[in-house]
Amino acid sequence: MILDLDTGVDDCLAITYALGSPEVELIGITGTYGNVLLGTGVKNDLDLLDLFGHPEVPVYPGIPHAREKDGFEVLEISEFIHGKNGIGEIEIPASNRVAETTPAPEFMVEAVREYGSDVVIVATGPMTNLARAIELDPTFKDNARIVIMGGALTVPGNCNDVMEANISQDPEAADLLFRSGAHVTMIGLDVTLQTLLTYEHTQQWRDLGTPAATALADITDFYIKAYETTAPHLGGCGLHDPLAVAVAIDPSLVTLFPCNIKVDLHEPVRGRTICDEERLNDPVKTADVAIAVDVERFLSEFMSRITSLLKG
Ligand code: BDR
Ligand code: CA
Repeated sequence: MILDLDTGVDDCLAITYALGSPEVELIGITGTYGNVLLGTGVKNDLDLLDLFGHPEVPVYPGIPHAREKDGFEVLEISEFIHGKNGIGEIEIPASNRVAETTPAPEFMVEAVREYGSDVVIVATGPMTNLARAIELDPTFKDNARIVIMGGALTVPGNCNDVMEANISQDPEAADLLFRSGAHVTMIGLDVTLQTLLTYEHTQQWRDLGTPAATALADITDFYIKAYETTAPHLGGCGLHDPLAVAVAIDPSLVTLFPCNIKVDLHEPVRGRTICDEERLNDPVKTADVAIAVDVERFLSEFMSRITSLLKG
């Protein structure tokens, strides 16, 4: 598995889900921007891998901004949800490792050339690195297995009425990905806002009493607290990114709906992921979109895998 992350609290939870899964060999993390700047996300990846006892996993920095922009600034809302440092304002020991020199899209291309569909790329930030990988190698789209956290088909967005955060950062990249013909599984807000974590869950980690368990509980509590302000009706925080990892391992956790999805690129619905009536009947299917999730089974997998990682 390769994780493409804008690390971010729930990206951090995606890392722990992957590291706690015996089926997964994490061959690399590729960095993108979004919840934090690229450099902060890459630092978080290195520090978190060390904290969770996996310093052998290499980290590859990606493209620092969207295709059609020449810079990137972290939004205030992202800082509020993930903290200024992306990991809930919690300080963890700094890794003495450095990131690899190979850029993220090149690493993705090389990995798919080597492993084909035995490698799955789980992208939980903007799709900028994936779009570049598709452009770099015409065979990439035919051989890559890709699961993304992004979009919203049957529910409203979380940036505005129609737009989900990861798609919103680089709609052109997401559109290129969907149109490419690559095998894409889309884990959007349709399902991720049903999978919620509470303080009772994080207390179970804290009770383990290790530095890594305490840090993960503290990092996640910051995120739960932010959800209490931004989405109090939910009663917990959305497990967006770890759900994408879980589905990459076990697709039976969700119900998948194949459809010809597109990303609207123009206002007033820029960033909307939609499969309109005409597209519903189109024999071309650009993605398998998750429209229902077995919440109980996912949460039980989530807690047992992360607890086993934290127990060492
Ligand atoms: C997505 O946006 C980011 O803030 C989260 O990490 C997640 O990947 C949810 O819309
Ligand atoms: Ca993310």
